[in-house]
Amino acid sequence: MRTTHRALLGLVVALGMGTARGAIPAEQDDCLGCHGSDPSQTMDLPSGEKLSLYVDQEHFAKSVHGEILRCGDCHSDKTGYPHDSKPFKTRRDVTVATYEQCKSCHFANYTKTLDGVHFAIMAKGNRKAALCVDCHGSHDIGRPTEPRARISQTCASCHANVNKVYLGSVHGKGLTAGNQDVPVCTDCHRAHDIADPRDGSLALRTPEVCGRCHTDEKMMKRYGLSTRVVDTYLTDFHGMSASLTKGHARSAKAKDPNRLFAAVCTDCHGVHEISKSKDPGSPVVRANLVKTCRKCHPDATDSFPASWLSHYEPSPQKAPIVWLVQMFYRLMIPFMVGGLVLQIALHLWRVVVNR
Ligand code: HEC
Ligand code: HEC
Ligand code: HEC
Ligand code: HEC
Ligand code: HEC
Ligand code: HEC
Ligand code: HEC
Ligand code: HEC
Ligand code: HEC
Repeated sequence: MRTTHRALLGLVVALGMGTARGAIPAEQDDCLGCHGSDPSQTMDLPSGEKLSLYVDQEHFAKSVHGEILRCGDCHSDKTGYPHDSKPFKTRRDVTVATYEQCKSCHFANYTKTLDGVHFAIMAKGNRKAALCVDCHGSHDIGRPTEPRARISQTCASCHANVNKVYLGSVHGKGLTAGNQDVPVCTDCHRAHDIADPRDGSLALRTPEVCGRCHTDEKMMKRYGLSTRVVDTYLTDFHGMSASLTKGHARSAKAKDPNRLFAAVCTDCHGVHEISKSKDPGSPVVRANLVKTCRKCHPDATDSFPASWLSHYEPSPQKAPIVWLVQMFYRLMIPFMVGGLVLQIALHLWRVVVNR
């Protein structure tokens, strides 16, 4: 089934490219004769809503499909006129009934969405959850990642509040400024098989999700940021118990808010509001750190954070004493070992010379 489609697709693409680059294939004149002529043409739905019947030829021609698909590739049920129009009650019915058209050619993406949170929400009866058409459009589909900021805008059309918070974060501000390195929504959530954040699996995966960039030497060098935030995290108490509790702990937490589970990246840094760690408002800046620890260590005193060396590498500015001790060992050990070797060598030399 899938291979036949691929083969057909290849043919469609080849024909499209060969005959009608830049223009709409002639076969479509038929449909566009009615649907492309009058922008005010609508169809009344029982809900009282109006369905526009107009297809903008120019938009369609510029879309990713414009040069390669015909109306009938998607609307395979519309072969002649009058159409046997489906009994749509509402505008949403049209989308819900039509979106599966995409499946025949984009089977892999379709299959992924079956594992996603939107599909699950839709299956439970919330028909506002996102379908292909909500994120991509229908006749004006563009490259979803061009420009990169477009991705977050796609999600923002329904998740405006999250997007507002995100735009104020160190990541969101970067995106607005044209930075290509910072994460957009789908870098953390993915696009088609979005996990339900409430089951805690995403939170537990943050060392991996955040680590993809925050352990990337080349990328982090551009911002002067440490790449050791993940491995230092993984070796401390929180990292150890977070990996031990993988799978079930966080969902149990949701049921019993008094039970404590070790901190993951977002427990200390926040999620969509992540800021530079030196920002006065940052939850990890020294002045706010105890408050952050107290979320889970209610008895923490002001000196408590000092007991945890954080995952920052000691440096003369950040943790001068630790840094000094480290430097001391770094210099002293070679010095002492070297001295020892030298002493033995001198002894041997003496033994040889004295013979
Ligand atoms: C002679 C004019 C005419 C032609 C040609 C025509 N349509 Fe339509 N189309 C209409 C009208 C009128 C409606 C509204 C139907 C109704 O009121 O029940 C409509 C409705 C539709 C709808 C929305 C309702 C639904 O059932 O999904 C789609 C999609 C559609 N047409 C696609 C096409 C395609 C694809 C072609 C080319 C194969 C085409 N039409 C050719 C006039 C036309
Ligand atoms: C890539 C697949 C695809 C192609 C190609 C396509 N359509 Fe559609 N069409 C859709 C989808 C999906 C919807 C439902 C959109 C929605 O719910 O908003 C739709 C809806 C419509 C409607 C109902 C009104 C509307 O805009 O929602 C008409 C009329 C229509 N298409 C006509 C056409 C004509 C004419 C062509 C050829 C020029 C065409 N379509 C090509 C996927 C396609
Ligand atoms: C008849 C086959 C067919 C159908 C049906 C179809 N597409 Fe496509 N689609 C293609 C082909 C072929 C391409 C590749 C075009 C290219 O990359 O230049 C494509 C490209 C795309 C792209 C851009 C991919 C990229 O890598 O940038 C998106 C997004 C997309 N389609 C979404 C949809 C959606 C949403 C639907 C349903 C409304 C749909 N398609 C229906 C054949 C189809
Ligand atoms: C919640 C929004 C959303 C929904 C729903 C969605 N997509 Fe996407 N899709 C995206 C985004 C964003 C991208 C850009 C790639 C990325 O960020 O991972 C994308 C990329 C794509 C691409 C090009 C890259 C690739 O993975 O091949 C295709 C084709 C595509 N989607 C088709 C579909 C189809 C078909 C459906 C429905 C079964 C669908 N999408 C549902 C948001 C969505
Ligand atoms: C067409 C609207 C729409 C679009 C576009 C959309 N979503 Fe959603 N999404 C929903 C709805 C509705 C829910 C159910 C929860 C609610 O009512 O807020 C939901 C739920 C979620 C959830 C589960 C958490 C929760 O609050 O239930 C996540 C995560 C999510 N969306 C991420 C995304 C991402 C990432 C994108 C972009 C790639 C995106 N969404 C695009 C409508 C949308
Ligand atoms: C840096 C990674 C990251 C980025 C970027 C990100 N998210 Fe999230 N998001 C998360 C994590 C992690 C959670 C789960 C938080 C938890 O455990 O409670 C989450 C939770 C959510 C939720 C459900 C809880 C809530 O706050 O409503 C939604 C909806 C959501 N994100 C949508 C989005 C959208 C839309 C964007 C883009 C504007 C986005 N996210 C960008 C990591 C991210
Ligand atoms: C797609 C790559 C990417 C992902 C994924 C990512 N980040 Fe970032 N992050 C960056 C980049 C790039 C910067 C630097 C932005 C700047 O300074 O303008 C940054 C900055 C930060 C900063 C500010 C550092 C400082 O003090 O200046 C923190 C904290 C941070 N990220 C935490 C996280 C956490 C936690 C996650 C996961 C939930 C995450 N990041 C996921 C790329 C990423
Ligand atoms: C227990 C709380 C806590 C957890 C868990 C945590 N961090 Fe941090 N993070 C901090 C503190 C505190 C700082 C500030 C360190 C400093 O200034 O010395 C920081 C600093 C950072 C920085 C800035 C580093 C720099 O070079 O300035 C990044 C990036 C970062 N964390 C990412 C992460 C990632 C990714 C994770 C998960 C693997 C994580 N953090 C887990 C508390 C935490
Ligand atoms: C999301 C909850 C959470 C947050 C926030 C949190 N911790 Fe923890 N922390 C834990 C849990 C749970 C343990 C026990 C882990 C174990 O025993 O395996 C723990 C263990 C520790 C330990 C080991 C000794 C002990 O008391 O068991 C230290 C030290 C510690 N945390 C310091 C901190 C500091 C400093 C902060 C703030 C920067 C912080 N924690 C924030 C949950 C958290």
